[in-house]
Amino acid sequence: MIAEEMIEINPTNNSRLPEVDFENLPFGKVFSDHMFTIDYKDGAWHKPQIIPFQNLSLNPATSVIHYGQSIFEGMKAFKSEDGKVRLFRPDRNIARFNISAERMCMPSVPPALFQEGLEKLLDLDRNWVPDHKDAALYIRPFMFATDEYIGVKPSETYKFMIFTCPVNKYYAGSVKVKIEEEFSRSMPGGTGFAKAAGNYAASLYPAKLAQDQGYNQLLWTDAIEHKYIEESGTMNIVFRSGNKVFSPAVSTTILRGITRDSILHVARDYGYQVEERKIEVAEIVDLLEKGELHEAFGAGTAATIAPISVINFRGKDYHLPSTEQWDFANKAAADLNSMKTGRSEDRFSWNVVI
Ligand code: COI
Repeated sequence: MIAEEMIEINPTNNSRLPEVDFENLPFGKVFSDHMFTIDYKDGAWHKPQIIPFQNLSLNPATSVIHYGQSIFEGMKAFKSEDGKVRLFRPDRNIARFNISAERMCMPSVPPALFQEGLEKLLDLDRNWVPDHKDAALYIRPFMFATDEYIGVKPSETYKFMIFTCPVNKYYAGSVKVKIEEEFSRSMPGGTGFAKAAGNYAASLYPAKLAQDQGYNQLLWTDAIEHKYIEESGTMNIVFRSGNKVFSPAVSTTILRGITRDSILHVARDYGYQVEERKIEVAEIVDLLEKGELHEAFGAGTAATIAPISVINFRGKDYHLPSTEQWDFANKAAADLNSMKTGRSEDRFSWNVVI
C-alpha cells in the first residue's frame, strides 16, 4: 500500500515556529506547521501528502457532519536531551485506531502507512517537539467520512489525517470528580471501547452539569446498574489502597488505555498487587469512608496522570490524601516521564526513536 504511492511532501515557506511561546503552552490550541493527509476511495488509500497545516473545505452534505462516522487517537512524542524525538508505544495507538475503525464501519489504515506518515510528519516538524518538563508534542490522528450524501449508510470515502500540537499536561493540578448515576457514556454493545467522536459529544452535557456544581469531571459508572466504576471523564481510572493498585478491567464499555496499561505495567514491576477487575462504587465509597483509599487518578495520553483530590458521591465530598503522600503515582509519573524522554533506560522497549 505505501509502496504504491510515495508520500508527497510540500513544506511550508512560512513557519509559525518563531511565534510560539513554549513556556506557556495551552492544550490543543497551537498547531505545528504541517499535517499528513490521505484519502480513501474505491476501496484503497490514495494520495498521501504532508502539507502546511490549513483549513479544510467541506460540502455541507459531507456525511460525517450528519451521522458522525469519525474516530481519533491521541499519542505523544518527546524530545530527549540528545535532541532525538521519541514516540511512545505508537503500535498500541495504531492497533486501537483500527479497532475503532471496524466498530464504526470505516476502513482500516494499514499500520505501516500510518507509522510512515507519522514518522515523516514528526521528522519534518521535529523542532516543534518541546523539551521542557511535562511538555510533549501531542499527536492527533483522525479519520472521518467524506461522502457527499445524506442517506444513512457507511460512507464509501474517507479522509485520514494527522496533525500535532506542542502541549503541556491537560490538567494543571488535581481534579475533583463526581460519581455519575444518571447519565452514561457507554453501554454493552455500544461504542464505549472505540475512540469515536460521538462518545465525547455524548459526555459533554453530563460533564457540564457536574462542572456547574464545581467538579472538573465525572466518574462514569456502568449504564445498566450504575453499580460499577468505569472511567473518569476522558481518562481511565486507577486506584491504590495499601499495596493494591487496581483499575476497572477493560471491556466493551471501557477504552483500552495505553497510559493505563503502562501504569499497571510499572506497578507490577515495583511489586504492587495489580488488579484489573470490576470495581463497585460501594467498594470505593467504603474505602473512602475508612480513609483507606490512598490514591485515585485519571490516566490518559493528554492528561498523563491526573491526581484526583475529591470524589463526590450522592452529595458528599470525600477528600483523598494530599498528593505528597502518593507513593505510587508520583513514582510512576516520574519513571514513565524519564523513560519517554530518554533520561532513563527504556526497559520495556516502548519508545520508537525518530
Ligand atoms: C487523550 O488523552 O489523548 C484523549 O483522547 C483525551 C482527549 C479527548 C483530550
